[in-house]
Amino acid sequence: MVKSVNVAIIGSGVVGSAFINQLKNLKSAINFNVVYLARSSKEAIFSSDYKPVDLASYKTANAQSVLSLDALTKFLKEGSKPSILIDNTSNSSIADYYPTFIKEGISIATPNKKAFSSDLKTWNEIFDSSNAPNGGLVYHEATVGAGLPIIGPLRDLITTGDKVETIEGIFSGTLSYIFNEFSTTDSSSKVNFSDVVTVAKNLGYTEPDPRDDLNGLDVARKVTILARISGFNVESPTSFPVESLIPKDLESIQSADEFISKLPNYDGDIQKVKEEALAENKVLRFVGKVDFKENKVSVGINKYSFDHPFASLKGSDNVVSIKTDRYPNPLIIQGAGAGAEVTAHGLGLIIDTINMSRSVFVSITGSNKWYAERIFWPFL
Ligand SMILES: NC(=O)c1ccc[n+]([C@@H]2O[C@H](COP(=O)([O-])OP(=O)(O)OC[C@H]3O[C@@H](n4cnc5c(N)ncnc54)[C@H](OP(=O)(O)O)[C@@H]3O)[C@@H](O)[C@H]2O)c1
Repeated sequence: MVKSVNVAIIGSGVVGSAFINQLKNLKSAINFNVVYLARSSKEAIFSSDYKPVDLASYKTANAQSVLSLDALTKFLKEGSKPSILIDNTSNSSIADYYPTFIKEGISIATPNKKAFSSDLKTWNEIFDSSNAPNGGLVYHEATVGAGLPIIGPLRDLITTGDKVETIEGIFSGTLSYIFNEFSTTDSSSKVNFSDVVTVAKNLGYTEPDPRDDLNGLDVARKVTILARISGFNVESPTSFPVESLIPKDLESIQSADEFISKLPNYDGDIQKVKEEALAENKVLRFVGKVDFKENKVSVGINKYSFDHPFASLKGSDNVVSIKTDRYPNPLIIQGAGAGAEVTAHGLGLIIDTINMSRSVFVSITGSNKWYAERIFWPFL
């Protein structure tokens, strides 16, 4: 008999629409029956008889108002099949509702990092509910490094008894790009920090206000997630040192444009740090770090020698280095880790399967297929 699962999808933006596309083409022995599709925060497609949503025409299909989260829970529970909710939003209210879904036996798969990187109480509630008999499963691989396989392998190592010493990585595509361009091994490069930030903004790599990237909070959220998985009970993403790249005087400026216009006045400070690093044959990178030996979690600028894997990073790639008892030479996972282009339109996929008994280098270009697989593999 064909196994069948009811699927509810919330959000069809950049990631959501790519996901729906993949789901249309997913080859599986399981029948994924999409019974609810909220294509925006207002409109959803579903029918009371659980008829599958036609994924080829969801953009133009007749829609109804979205269900409240209570009503959606009831709808899924009455569907008489196991159900999984895919949250493709960055909405906090949906994230806050995860424990309720999970307690009701509804599994969650999501790239939304809000719930996993807020207070520790929410994290514990999510995973305690999931571990309870009849609790739903929780998969959030894409909350760190987008499509890169980071969370799964880290959990596998820990579950099989390995001990993490350090996790260190470049987790923001935007800050990866900015530092890869700003701080290179080329001593003749005279590029200014403010120029690189302006180019990144014009290319659409930053948030509309680049301060939302430069404040380091997005990296802090991802480091919070990795720290918690590896057993470091981080209270919140603001409970450890996070270095902000926003000059103090520019923190309270109203508009992003004014911020950009004044940023060149502060180039001197970071230029000096870059030149000091260069004199030691090192480059600057913006990293998040979990250090069990020093009992410390931190986010900020670090220096890396020219031959370090972080120094040769290109474009907006992410990289993570995981040092454990089993991997004294760290496990390095590197590849596209953010950006609308790779998340929505990634085509090529090269995955070297993580093998527990050897050190591997995993390089991925294009994350969408992986994202779908990470969501569904427990059910396949
Ligand atoms: N893009 C990336 O590179 C990337 C990579 C890794 C992880 N992520 C994560 O993936 C998630 C989605 O990112 P995205 O880039 O796809 O964002 P996006 O393009 O802004 O899409 C978000 C979608 O969610 C919908 N939505 C918001 N609140 C909703 C609600 N209450 N009910 C139903 N739909 C709702 C929005 O509809 P409306 O327009 O009507 O509000 C929109 O269609 C975020 O959590 C993000 O952090 C993104």
